[in-house]
Amino acid sequence: MGIFRVPVQPLERTMMTELFLRGFPWRSGRVSGQTSGCAGTHDADARPDRIDRGSTARCNSVPLPLWGLVLGLALAGAPSAEAQTCLTCHGSADFLRSVTGDSARAARLTVDPEEFRSTVHGAMGFSCELCHAGIGDFPHAASPRVACGGCHHREKEQLGHSVHGQPHALTGEEPAACIDCHSDHHIRRPSDPQSTVYRLTVFETCAVCHEDADKMRRFGQENVHTVASYLNSVHGRGLIAKGLTVAPICTDCHGKRGTGAHEIQIVPDSGSPMHREHVVETCGRCHAGIMAQYDRGLHGEQFRAGNLDSPTCISCHAEHGIQAVANPASGVNPLHISRTCTACHDREGFNTKYGIRAARGNTFARSFHGIALGSGQLTVANCESCHGAHEILPSSDPRSMIHASNLVATCGSCHPGIGKGVAQGRIHVASFEEEQSLVGAAVRWFYIIVIGVTVVYAFGLIALDQYRYRVVDPRRGGGSHA
Ligand code: HEC
Ligand code: HEC
Ligand code: HEC
Ligand code: HEC
Ligand code: HEC
Ligand code: HEC
Ligand code: HEC
Ligand code: HEC
Ligand code: HEC
Ligand code: HEC
Ligand code: HEC
Repeated sequence: MGIFRVPVQPLERTMMTELFLRGFPWRSGRVSGQTSGCAGTHDADARPDRIDRGSTARCNSVPLPLWGLVLGLALAGAPSAEAQTCLTCHGSADFLRSVTGDSARAARLTVDPEEFRSTVHGAMGFSCELCHAGIGDFPHAASPRVACGGCHHREKEQLGHSVHGQPHALTGEEPAACIDCHSDHHIRRPSDPQSTVYRLTVFETCAVCHEDADKMRRFGQENVHTVASYLNSVHGRGLIAKGLTVAPICTDCHGKRGTGAHEIQIVPDSGSPMHREHVVETCGRCHAGIMAQYDRGLHGEQFRAGNLDSPTCISCHAEHGIQAVANPASGVNPLHISRTCTACHDREGFNTKYGIRAARGNTFARSFHGIALGSGQLTVANCESCHGAHEILPSSDPRSMIHASNLVATCGSCHPGIGKGVAQGRIHVASFEEEQSLVGAAVRWFYIIVIGVTVVYAFGLIALDQYRYRVVDPRRGGGSHA
């Protein structure tokens, strides 16, 4: 982790100096402040140590125009006077315990001064009151909840449109607030390894809720293993075991491109990158080469044409549980791939709909390769060996691996020297079986008809005989002999 750690203090200083000179934040637009009469209290060139601290009291309710002061304090490296006052009490757990008589509550009320100074706001010399507006001497009057959105307008607005920031239909609650993901007094930049939203560890923050079965069910979410299955996937292991920052994290797949975590939507929402319409593009952001192959194949072509039957990346690779091909848990591992393909290709009515001749899974399972594969011999051909994985094309397409002119090469990769005749033999035995079953059906019907006719004829004879015996000529019946 060491290499990721950026020395916070010096970075803050240079960044702050630069922002200061550029008149941050009004022009940068990253943090938008309220306009207020405080703006002119001190001019931007004022040296930090000359700023009139008395002015802060008047400006506490209108935070941002205090920037000159905040920046000045940061440059001077001095914690703000207000913070120090508050910390006289709030910096001491012992003191708070003696007042509240409740050690759990005292622990919550304690703010570690050292730690606070290393957080993003603390390092800028934020006074406590910049967030806790209106809190005064002890005993405190009831104070309003901290409004992060007062300064971070953009994030507030984005969150307001996301699933986390809107009252949920089932509970009426907003699922997640700023501090659920960022904490209150431990807020750090996302690039800081200690941040709750640091790329390599942000899943832990999501897991607090998303692995909490009771909480998620209250919100109608039955899948409470999203994080666990992600962690067990090739992506999760890439992130954690290999420390790959390029492995996708929750927000890469669920947040809108570029704006990340604050715009997460439910998957069925067309704004979600995991919505069927966008999922290929989202995976393709990293797997661009494979997306290009997919687009050249029939599956991709049909997907782009809006065919809802065609597979997207996650139809074959699963959602959170995506595994490396070599892993037997993967749906595209040679052991399972025919099941994955036949989920569609053997589906009731599928082949008729597309005019494909026979159920491909059944016929494959009964082929040489299928039988060998079924008994665990992984070197034989599976669907992918003959059709490819992403650039799958119909046999009529000259580029297809199963086009007559390419079969020698396709089969030849495992059967060197295979002859043209053998290679063009029927692979999906059904073509042969279909013919066989045609004869079979004819024979079957022949017998059914012959037997049916014979039975009807026999019963007819008996009935006629009885008729003559009992009705036409009763005198010759058995009774008259008695
Ligand atoms: C003289 C000691 C003292 C000082 C100074 C002090 N506090 Fe407190 N503060 C307390 C105690 C004790 C409590 C717990 C009150 C309780 O539980 O009844 C508290 C509670 C709080 C709470 C929680 C309120 C709630 O309703 O849960 C906040 C927020 C707070 N203080 C912020 C501040 C800020 C900001 C400052 C500086 C402007 C400050 N305090 C200065 C002693 C102090
Ligand atoms: C970046 C904004 C921010 C700053 C700066 C800040 N706080 Fe807080 N503080 C919060 C938030 C958010 C909460 C959670 C409660 C809420 O949302 O109102 C909180 C809660 C508290 C509580 C109550 C904890 C509880 O669970 O009841 C105390 C006490 C407190 N802060 C003291 C301080 C002190 C002392 C300082 C200055 C050293 C300070 N805060 C600086 C944002 C801030
Ligand atoms: C008084 C205004 C103010 C309040 C209130 C405030 N912030 Fe900030 N916050 C800032 C400023 C200014 C920065 C520094 C921006 C920069 O340098 O990019 C900042 C930085 C941040 C960063 C790091 C941004 C980055 O680009 O690295 C996060 C995360 C953050 N704040 C979250 C919060 C949360 C969560 C709250 C509420 C608990 C909060 N802030 C309350 C003004 C505020
Ligand atoms: C669901 C969790 C979550 C919630 C809720 C959340 N954030 Fe964030 N925030 C993140 C993550 C994760 C990042 C890291 C960058 C990213 O992925 O977008 C981040 C980044 C930031 C940044 C750095 C600038 C940026 O956009 O990269 C700021 C500032 C910030 N958040 C403020 C807020 C504020 C203010 C709120 C409440 C209005 C809030 N966040 C709510 C997860 C959250
Ligand atoms: C590689 C992309 C990817 C990553 C990384 C990812 N997800 Fe997902 N997630 C998906 C897809 C695809 C779905 C859609 C499942 C569906 O269609 O039902 C989904 C669905 C969800 C759902 C809705 C419940 C469900 O299963 O349908 C939640 C909640 C969720 N993800 C949370 C997370 C969290 C938390 C993380 C990080 C630990 C994460 N996701 C990481 C792709 C991803
Ligand atoms: C404070 C709790 C909390 C935190 C933290 C949290 N979430 Fe959520 N999230 C929820 C709740 C509750 C829902 C609503 C469940 C629903 O409607 O399906 C939700 C919904 C979602 C959905 C939409 C699921 C769907 O139905 O399609 C996704 C995706 C998601 N969260 C991802 C994340 C990610 C990624 C993070 C971490 C950056 C995160 N969440 C952090 C509580 C949380
Ligand atoms: C029709 C099913 C199917 C679809 C759709 C599909 N894949 Fe695959 N994918 C496979 C198979 C089968 C393999 C195994 C190839 C092999 O054995 O080498 C594979 C392999 C992979 C690999 C590993 C590369 C390798 O050759 O080892 C990646 C990465 C991948 N796919 C990503 C994607 C992405 C991204 C998409 C969407 C653009 C996608 N796949 C769509 C079936 C599919
Ligand atoms: C942010 C980039 C990123 C995104 C988005 C992404 N992946 Fe990956 N993917 C990776 C990386 C990096 C690896 C390699 C991990 C490793 O080897 O440890 C990988 C590995 C894989 C593998 C395993 C390849 C193998 O070796 O067999 C498959 C399959 C895969 N991804 C499919 C997908 C699918 C499907 C999606 C979309 C739902 C997706 N990926 C989204 C970056 C990404
Ligand atoms: C989600 C369903 C689905 C999955 C999974 C799927 N396919 Fe397809 N496949 C389709 C659809 C839809 C078509 C397009 C049919 C058409 O337009 O003729 C198609 C077309 C084909 C074709 C060309 C058929 C023709 O029309 O000539 C082949 C070959 C094929 N798929 C092989 C595979 C293989 C091999 C796999 C597994 C790696 C697979 N498919 C997985 C739905 C699927
Ligand atoms: C040993 C090579 C081989 C294997 C293994 C194989 N196929 Fe085929 N497949 C072919 C050949 C050759 C054709 C074209 C001739 C035919 O229809 O018999 C074909 C045709 C098809 C077609 C019709 C496409 C068209 O354009 O005619 C589909 C769909 C198909 N296969 C799916 C599958 C599925 C699904 C699997 C795995 C369960 C599979 N195949 C396994 C070689 C193979
Ligand atoms: C991935 C490698 C691979 C590919 C591609 C492949 N085969 Fe095979 N094939 C095998 C293996 C291994 C066996 C031996 C199976 C066994 O033990 O019965 C085999 C067995 C056979 C057999 C049974 C007779 C024998 O030699 O045991 C025939 C016939 C056959 N393959 C034809 C083909 C045709 C035709 C193609 C191309 C359409 C093809 N194969 C593609 C690996 C492959």
